[in-house]
Amino acid sequence: MHNIAVLPGDGIGPEVLDEVLKVIRAAAEKTGFNYKTVNYDFGADRYAAEGCEGDPLPDSALSEFRDMDAIYLGAIGDESKVPRGVLEKGILLKIRFELDQYINLRPIKLYPGVLTPLRGKGPKDIDFIVVRENTEGLYAGIGGFLKKGTPDEVAVQEMVNTYKGVKRCIRHAFDLTRDDNKRKKLTLCDKSNVLTFAHDLWQRVFEEVGKEYPDVEQDNVYVDAMTMRMVKNPEWLDVIVVCNMFGDIITDLGAELQGGMGIAASGNINPNGVSMFEPIHGSAPKYKRLNVANPLAAICAAGMMLDHLGEKEAAKRVDNAIATALASGKIKSLSAGKMGLSTTEMGDLIAGLI
Ligand code: IPM
Ligand code: MN
Repeated sequence: MHNIAVLPGDGIGPEVLDEVLKVIRAAAEKTGFNYKTVNYDFGADRYAAEGCEGDPLPDSALSEFRDMDAIYLGAIGDESKVPRGVLEKGILLKIRFELDQYINLRPIKLYPGVLTPLRGKGPKDIDFIVVRENTEGLYAGIGGFLKKGTPDEVAVQEMVNTYKGVKRCIRHAFDLTRDDNKRKKLTLCDKSNVLTFAHDLWQRVFEEVGKEYPDVEQDNVYVDAMTMRMVKNPEWLDVIVVCNMFGDIITDLGAELQGGMGIAASGNINPNGVSMFEPIHGSAPKYKRLNVANPLAAICAAGMMLDHLGEKEAAKRVDNAIATALASGKIKSLSAGKMGLSTTEMGDLIAGLI
């Protein structure tokens, strides 16, 4: 029995989540696994109803999450109700940090039938995985102001890199590369020519851990050059390991290469604890309840969750259903409102193919 905490969230979150649940139900019926979902209404509405004074995600919820097998998050945030950054920090980053989900796994995969903005590149070329560090770096939230609001203002934001944190992330990336027989090369993406302390540590740890993986090809590309490589020669990429902030940036670029936010999924992984799965896209409040949002990214994330829960057959069926749907020509575009199908029709299509 898999116990799954479900956070529909804001904007299009609840409606894409309905399609996710439809797909999981179909996969469970087909492959025969049991699961139970527990709903949590954290997000903009609840927080705004409390006058934006409570805790967007109380600690009691976190301790309930710790007893779950996985967490599924729709999308968080609505700036018309709660100021920018509050829910990101108070819900999303809080879960990532408190549950020590130190890996953010973001596959960049172009499915056949999907248009990429890269001329001359196809599904064979665009198929790599980004392993983003998820609990440190510039996301640590350490810093401060001096003389705020004056012409002499100073703002400092610290970048935290611990030996332990860097090492476990790099080791995870090496293991993933070695265990995936489709992949042979791990590329460290950093900026060690300028971040001569922080990314010097990454360099040294990559070399140290790399010695244990002589069977994995090892490569190093600065983050600026990485953006060029992703566009010019994505076929050279297999697995990328990268710090939190650079990983955030390059995975948005990666999402565009695979067809956009309509298809990009991610997993926040604690290999020894509870992991959380979510589409990379935001809550897009302007599309809320219009039945035009694309649920495929959320469904892809659900596939990642099933794989993580050990339901390999179910995960494969979800992936195959997405591939078949995209190759069928029925889906005109991955952008909201232009898909040629509604949100619910997309979910029906995938569930039917399962
Ligand atoms: C992401 C998002 C988050 C991040 C924001 C919403 C805090 O952009 O998951 O990529 O920066 O990690
Ligand atoms: Mn991001």
